[in-house]
Amino acid sequence: MKTRKEAVSNRFVKAFERLGIQSLKAIPEMTNPSFSSVPFPKSASVLSKRDFAQTLIRRWVWKMVIATLALMAVGSATRVMNAGLACPDWPLCYGQLVPTAQMNLQVFLEWFHRLDASLIGLMAIGLVGLCAWYRQVLPTWLPWASLGALFLIVVQGLLGGLTVIELLRFDIVTAHLGTALLFFCALLTIGTALLPYQPTGNAGKLHYLGLAAAVLVYGQSIIGGLVGSRWAAHQCFGFSDLCSVMNTHIFGVVPPTLAVLLLVLVVWRTPALSPWLRGLANTAGLLVIAQIGLGVATFKLRLQVEPLTVAHQSIGAALLGALVCFTVLSLRDFQAQRLATAQS
Ligand code: HEM
Repeated sequence: MKTRKEAVSNRFVKAFERLGIQSLKAIPEMTNPSFSSVPFPKSASVLSKRDFAQTLIRRWVWKMVIATLALMAVGSATRVMNAGLACPDWPLCYGQLVPTAQMNLQVFLEWFHRLDASLIGLMAIGLVGLCAWYRQVLPTWLPWASLGALFLIVVQGLLGGLTVIELLRFDIVTAHLGTALLFFCALLTIGTALLPYQPTGNAGKLHYLGLAAAVLVYGQSIIGGLVGSRWAAHQCFGFSDLCSVMNTHIFGVVPPTLAVLLLVLVVWRTPALSPWLRGLANTAGLLVIAQIGLGVATFKLRLQVEPLTVAHQSIGAALLGALVCFTVLSLRDFQAQRLATAQS
């Protein structure tokens, strides 16, 4: 005879399956909450075609997530090392695929940035291909989401080219960072939506809070991008110019910080929440504190330590990523809860 706990859990799994998302039951090893440490079954034959396709696409997307995070860090290093125009032409570098004769640290950064970007572009095309191939067994939103990601990376490539052609015009550089972050969020949304996650049905409307915090962090990152691309901090220190841009970024830290801290507080006070949601909220709380510390250190050291700026950019992206993952998982919790209520 089924216990009440099993019956409730089954209701969520069924509701979850109706959302077109891989259920934990299909991969029994994954019912363990620490499933990331549990190896996947080796043979595809033990998985149904749907589970195989979703697992393949999920792994593909998470690799793209890592490559994009690295790409943004290299992009930030390229800017702070003044290497943005180290390859004077585009798309090749000194008219070559590998400019061996001109190679130095600056050329390497710009060249590697383009190489990683091309790899991600190819992977985005591959993602669309995989989604088209397996479309019969995938949720309907997935092929469209993959096309959206491809669109963003094409725009990103064009903005990268324009950055060089327009000699690092600040609005193009900022748009380049903004699109990179949007692409990163799109990948995280797809990757998180495909995770074999067991909803507990206790997240309520936490996704609204997660989304608000993510939007505020995104806005703060764009202002940070403006500070970087206009060299506003340098201008402010050197000539008392563009201090308003710098100050907007400094005072702009208040809304996202309050939103993240509120999220952490509400999560702590919500009983029986999924450990995933707790972990992500706590991670976001720690990251926002680290980000402020790095920002203050960058500022106090008058931008003399380049790795600090690169770390500031990367932690900012990781913070945004944690909030996006939190939002998607809590939305899945909410949807499963609604479906389960409708069924009962
Ligand atoms: C939620 C908090 C914050 C986020 C998400 C954030 C994000 C960013 C981003 C994305 C950049 C662009 C980096 C690049 O172009 O490589 C940036 C630049 C910068 N941020 Fe922040 N930031 C935050 C808080 C702060 C704080 C509290 C300070 C303290 C004063 C600060 C100081 C700076 C400075 C000085 C730059 C310019 C670096 C340069 O020009 O090389 N940030 N920020």
